[in-house]
Amino acid sequence: MLAIVSSSKTSEQLEKEKQAAALAAFRYVRNDMLLGLGSGSTATYFLELMAAAVRRAELRIEAVASSLHIEAKAKELGIRICEPQRGVRVDLTIDGADEIAPDLSLIKGAGGALLREKILARASRHFLVIADSSKRVAQLGRRRVPLEVTPFAAPWVMDQVAELGGNPLLRTDKLRPDRPFLTDQQNHLLDCDFGLIRDVRGLAIRLKEIPGVVEHGLFLDLARAALIADDDKIIVLRPQSPPMLLSQCELALD
Ligand code: A5P
Repeated sequence: MLAIVSSSKTSEQLEKEKQAAALAAFRYVRNDMLLGLGSGSTATYFLELMAAAVRRAELRIEAVASSLHIEAKAKELGIRICEPQRGVRVDLTIDGADEIAPDLSLIKGAGGALLREKILARASRHFLVIADSSKRVAQLGRRRVPLEVTPFAAPWVMDQVAELGGNPLLRTDKLRPDRPFLTDQQNHLLDCDFGLIRDVRGLAIRLKEIPGVVEHGLFLDLARAALIADDDKIIVLRPQSPPMLLSQCELALD
């Protein structure tokens, strides 16, 4: 059994694991795919690997980006970016996560891109999560759950989240801490601490019911698999299957 071991790895070790997870995901990319590009540092490692293959003319793909930042980076690296279109599904989206539970429920949004990330995940045939070992948890809730909210509603959403025990904090701009962080949609983000979440599904429903909540960072029933690098191993998590080593199982996304 590949148990969850809480460890205190250095940031260098975790960076190496992110790179290893990105490399492991790369084997699922095929020519002529429409790919969904996640945001965050792990997804950026994946983008860089893919762009290098495109530059070497070993790979031909198009992509939809989950944030303006990753769109700009992809374009700079020579990846052709497409806009969402009716009737066109994304073949494969590859993205990081902030927490990954054994059933593949996730917390996402530390980077602020959760709305487009969830839209992409839902619009994709396959959604594959890549992460370092620090993201694997037994139960969601050690990290805060981000909520993207309409600015006008933010104070009242905070009151309602507080009633749910979520201790909301308005995220501020890193460079201008006196100002709220603005998402790509010009919305605000509330980072909410519910403690360990016993009923993730129930919480997701209650959050969605609050007027002014555009989206929350609980991703349920979206991920098809997660590739989690842990030292020199890649652990595969799939819903309703025990964790396996990638070297010892066949992960088929076709
Ligand atoms: C971006 O909004 C997030 O959902 C990221 O996917 C998540 O924060 C993981 O980021 P890292 O890969 O940088 O840890």
